[in-house]
Amino acid sequence: MSVDRDTLLQAARDASARAYAPYSGFHVGAALAFADGTVVTGANVENASYGLSLCAETVAVAAAMNEGRRGGLVAVAVTAGKPGEPAAGSMVTPCGRCRQVLTELAQMGGTDPLVWCAGGNDLREMRLSELLPLAFGPQTIGQGPAG
Ligand code: THU
Repeated sequence: MSVDRDTLLQAARDASARAYAPYSGFHVGAALAFADGTVVTGANVENASYGLSLCAETVAVAAAMNEGRRGGLVAVAVTAGKPGEPAAGSMVTPCGRCRQVLTELAQMGGTDPLVWCAGGNDLREMRLSELLPLAFGPQTIGQGPAG
C-alpha cells in the first residue's frame, strides 16, 4: 500500500505536540507507515538526566514493536519545531542511533523505507539505506522477517 507523504508528515507534526522536551524545548515527532496502512507515531521523551532522553523515532519504533510489528515499514516522517509551531522548526534528519533503530525494524521485513524530513521550508526525501549505508542489521546475521 502506498502512503501519502503529506498525511504522514502531518501525523509526525501531531505527534510532536506530545513531546516531553522541557530541557531542549525541541519537539520532534516521528510517524512510521506500514504496509498494512497502519501509522504508528512517537515523540521525544527527555529526562532530567539529559543523556537518557529518547528520540521521537526510537519511541515510535518501540511503540510499533510493542504492538508486535516485525517489519513492513514502508515510510518514515520526521518533523521538529517549537511547541505549538510544529511546522516552523528546522529540518531534522534522524540521529545516528535512530538510523540504526529504524534499520532493525526495516530489515526484519526486508524493506528500505522512504524517509521524509520536513521543517521550515525544507523537505527532504531519501531512503533509509542512504541515511545509513552499509548498515549492520538482522540481515547481516541472517535473520529474516520472523526476527
Ligand atoms: N531528537 C529526536 O527526537 N530525534 C532526532 O533524530 C534528533 C534529536 C530529540 C532528542 C532531544 O530530545 C531533542 O531532539 C534535542 O536534541
